[in-house]
Amino acid sequence: MQFDILTIFPEFFESSLKTSLLAKALAQKKLSVHLHNIRDFTEDKHHSVDDIPYGGGAGMVLKPDPVIRAIESIPKLKKSRSILLTPKGALLNQQKIVDLAQWDQLILVCGRYEGIDDRVRELAIDEEISIGDYILNGGEAAAVVLLDALVRLIPGVLGNEASAAFDSFSHGLLEYPQYTRPPEFRGLEVPKVLLSGHHKNIEAWRRQEMLKATYERRPDLLQKAVLTEEDETFLKELQKEKKEGRQ
Ligand code: ADE
Repeated sequence: MQFDILTIFPEFFESSLKTSLLAKALAQKKLSVHLHNIRDFTEDKHHSVDDIPYGGGAGMVLKPDPVIRAIESIPKLKKSRSILLTPKGALLNQQKIVDLAQWDQLILVCGRYEGIDDRVRELAIDEEISIGDYILNGGEAAAVVLLDALVRLIPGVLGNEASAAFDSFSHGLLEYPQYTRPPEFRGLEVPKVLLSGHHKNIEAWRRQEMLKATYERRPDLLQKAVLTEEDETFLKELQKEKKEGRQ
């Protein structure tokens, strides 16, 4: 999978690309990342990438011409998609990550300042993505989030255990709690079932913990989750307990 990232701060990406799974995927050539400095595509004496907004108002707006020239300079692969990172975009979730993993090339355009001239979107953007309902200083941090989540889906990048972890999220539930040694820490014990070696019981306990965590923290996810009859029964119990607890 190839990423072409357009930014005025290419150095923002240095440490992420040198670290952990991203570094491993790059070294194994399962992933390639090309950074394009938008400033290199300016044609004026001062290499300015931004200008004041028409109509007035605070802040500066990224000029269209260097961004468009930068996008046009990138050789396109067959399955290529251009994405603008912006708080106005569709909210990112795991399903979107799975969809994006199907493309051979993602061109990520990082906005900055107060925004980017809207003609860039009209002329050269296939899709706009936001990583959450808050305002970042620019799209760079959002581009790293996309990269980080996508690299996990590139075949061969993760070991087996980790891809299984992804599977459980794809069922739409939050993860069960994890523990490692020691069995007791500052008076807190690891749940007995996990030390039992009884795989069926462990599996059942983990499933119930996933349902409990999702019910308590993100009940909205339960609407779309794939649930068994046993799950539904357990959730009804939880609901009942909660109601009784309130009375
Ligand atoms: N740029 C600024 N804020 C952003 C956000 N929440 N998501 C994506 N890009 C952004």
